[in-house]
Amino acid sequence: MKGSLDILLGLQWGDEGKGKVVDYLAPNYQMVARFQGGPNAGHSLVFNGSKFVLHTIPSGIFRESCINFIGHGVVIDPITLRQEVEAVQKAGVSTQGRLFIARKAHLIIPTHKVLDAASEQAKGRQRVGSTLRGIGPAYMDKTGRNGLRVGDIYSAGFEKKLRALMDKHRLLILSMKYDPPEWPSLDPWLEAVDQLRRMDVVDGEYFIYEKIQEGARILAEGAQGTLLDIDHGTYPYVTSSSTVAAGACLGLGLPPSAVRNVFGVFKAYCTRVGSGPFPTEQTDETGHLLRTKGHEFGATTGRPRRCGWLDLVALRYAIMVNGVNHLMMMKADVLSGLPQVKAAVAYDLEGTRRNDFPFDLTELDVRPIYKEFPGWETICTEGCTFSKEFMDFLAYIERVTRLPVNLVSYGPDRQHTCIRKDVSLVEGSV
Ligand code: IMP
Repeated sequence: MKGSLDILLGLQWGDEGKGKVVDYLAPNYQMVARFQGGPNAGHSLVFNGSKFVLHTIPSGIFRESCINFIGHGVVIDPITLRQEVEAVQKAGVSTQGRLFIARKAHLIIPTHKVLDAASEQAKGRQRVGSTLRGIGPAYMDKTGRNGLRVGDIYSAGFEKKLRALMDKHRLLILSMKYDPPEWPSLDPWLEAVDQLRRMDVVDGEYFIYEKIQEGARILAEGAQGTLLDIDHGTYPYVTSSSTVAAGACLGLGLPPSAVRNVFGVFKAYCTRVGSGPFPTEQTDETGHLLRTKGHEFGATTGRPRRCGWLDLVALRYAIMVNGVNHLMMMKADVLSGLPQVKAAVAYDLEGTRRNDFPFDLTELDVRPIYKEFPGWETICTEGCTFSKEFMDFLAYIERVTRLPVNLVSYGPDRQHTCIRKDVSLVEGSV
């Protein structure tokens, strides 16, 4: 294989700041590819002083030299995709010949969103806190072998199949005793599908294989995070796709032998949006401070994010299941100015010290065991010289994870990034 695949993904509950790193690293790659999730993701990046939130389009779109690929592991809402394409084009960025979509990607149809709401209502207090973008129901139809794929939109029988699936959804929704405020209209969705027909839809596996044969370096961009993974996350409070490194091979159609590096992105603290266990959550002044300083409000839904200290038990678990070989720390500046910084090094479960991430975190009353670090006023001066206190915090993380933190981000702009080692040029094996 002449080219290679590097995978960049989140090691927490999403919102780690992956979009910024992908945008930063993109010039070193010929292609950026999304492999899972859908418009539940919100990758924020700052371009020419304006903030953009990408939900479906890969974060390499603002780098001229990069082509962008939406793999078949992604679920696509044609309306969101259309709006995003228009916003990007309005900013003077061309998508022509730069954005490719796999024929086998599944479609989110209007009733998927209603089903999402119905399912959350039925769950009551156990609701997942879904973004209600129809992600779960679209993946359910995929695995239930009822779904519609991008390639289907070219067939004569498409509208008939679509209406039959929507009728089926209607019955299901009514059987769940859910009464939607209004049934979505199909017209705007069909108009967006019309636009999708004119986009660059490709046979994904062949497309990406050929690029690799031509020697392309590809960066796979994860959405959500490891702790929201359908298998490895805090089930059932998870999303419906494979957010881990193995998901990149599945969702793009590339073999594991193509993988060169796995970049694990984490925030210097933790956040979670939606329900589910979060051992290091701080509901007091500290949580409030992290949320305000870190602007921790959902990029897709605007919901306030739950905030807490860095959890090294969860981080080590995420590193293990993904085979991470380079760490990247985001939002380190948010901790500046705190008198003291904490990180969970183990859990206390009814008097027993646990270093592993327990199976049933939803039921167990785990108490984090914290290590405390002296705080720092300013994280670094010009030229990425870090304060001694921050270096001590970083060195401790590197020691317990046994991995180098090769990139530290300390602000939203591209220039607020310290590369401790040029990760994209490092030849590494997992
Ligand atoms: P869904 O995938 O929209 O159904 O949401 C399932 C769970 O994953 C909820 O707790 C969401 O808040 C969470 N989630 C989904 N997408 C993201 C994301 O991009 N960032 C953070 N959390 C997310």
